[in-house]
Amino acid sequence: MKEKLEQIKAEALKQIETVGGQSGQALDKLNEIRVNYLGKKGQLTALLKGMKDVAPEERPKVGQMVNDVRSEIEEVLERATDKMKALALEGRLKGETIDVTLPARKNNVGHRHPNTIALEEVERIFVGMGYEVVEGPEVEKDYYNFEALNIPADHPAKDEQDTFYVNGDILLRTQTSPVQVRVMEQTKPPIRIIAPGRVFRSDEVDATHSPSFHQIEGLVVDKNITFADLKGTLAQFAKELFGEETKVKFRPHHFPFTEPSAEVDVSCFKCGGKGCRFCKGSGWIEILGCGMVHPKVLKMSGIDPEVYSGFAFGVGLERIALLKYEIDDMRLLYENDIRFLKQF
Ligand code: DAH
Repeated sequence: MKEKLEQIKAEALKQIETVGGQSGQALDKLNEIRVNYLGKKGQLTALLKGMKDVAPEERPKVGQMVNDVRSEIEEVLERATDKMKALALEGRLKGETIDVTLPARKNNVGHRHPNTIALEEVERIFVGMGYEVVEGPEVEKDYYNFEALNIPADHPAKDEQDTFYVNGDILLRTQTSPVQVRVMEQTKPPIRIIAPGRVFRSDEVDATHSPSFHQIEGLVVDKNITFADLKGTLAQFAKELFGEETKVKFRPHHFPFTEPSAEVDVSCFKCGGKGCRFCKGSGWIEILGCGMVHPKVLKMSGIDPEVYSGFAFGVGLERIALLKYEIDDMRLLYENDIRFLKQF
């Protein structure tokens, strides 16, 4: 019995001693040894079951011996387990070392788009003059985009604004002017609104064109609104946007929904009107279209042209942004390259 015990003990300690390798596996292995020697079906337990063959007076002594061996194996096992756990922890800490001298990861914050900056500027100017900012749908009815703006089905202006049709009746709006009609249908004068938004045309992309761009529509309807109000308003707008020295020039033009109609040029804010590369030598830069709202348009939208009159204008937002920030290719506005956007 005694030899058997000594043998078990020597074997167990030897096995514990040789456990090594990967700490995870080592811990499993140590547990295996525990089960094998000390577990319910382990070797020591089996030995205790053989006590009935031992002479009664010997039993306490043998029992004591078994317990001693048990404690010793337990103690060695525990030490080995602790050591393995410490090794495992050390390994993990090494793997998770943080190099505090590494440069921090940059937290890239976005930047307001030049279109947005320009739009906010335009909104600020008109809100300051008592205008309200409204919006209309980008997917629009043919009626609002053309018909109600005095552009009948066979009008050549429809060709120029060739666009994307959802079906015969519904299209992507080619201009923000339909918002004029929607507002007039729903509001009684006095009306004073601007309506910024995206518009669509079947244009090829180049430095000055895009199939999708933005306009800002303006509309004023009240009693006794005259062309003088239109001139004064746009002259003030140009001064606030491009500088106090800026002059405006109204050139006669044609739009189906205004009569009379004009295109507006501003004196070149780069050379002051002398002529430079920026204004192509002319001293003037075209910025928008405008006019007095056509009586037919007022009437179709339910406003009596005998009582009320109004003016309207339409500005290209990209055009303003390109001019104001001296960007010479519109495509840059759509690439969303943060290195470009950051400059404004
Ligand atoms: N909608 C016109 C266009 O896209 C621009 C325009 C011209 C709007 C004259 C107006 C206006 O309100 O009165 O070319």
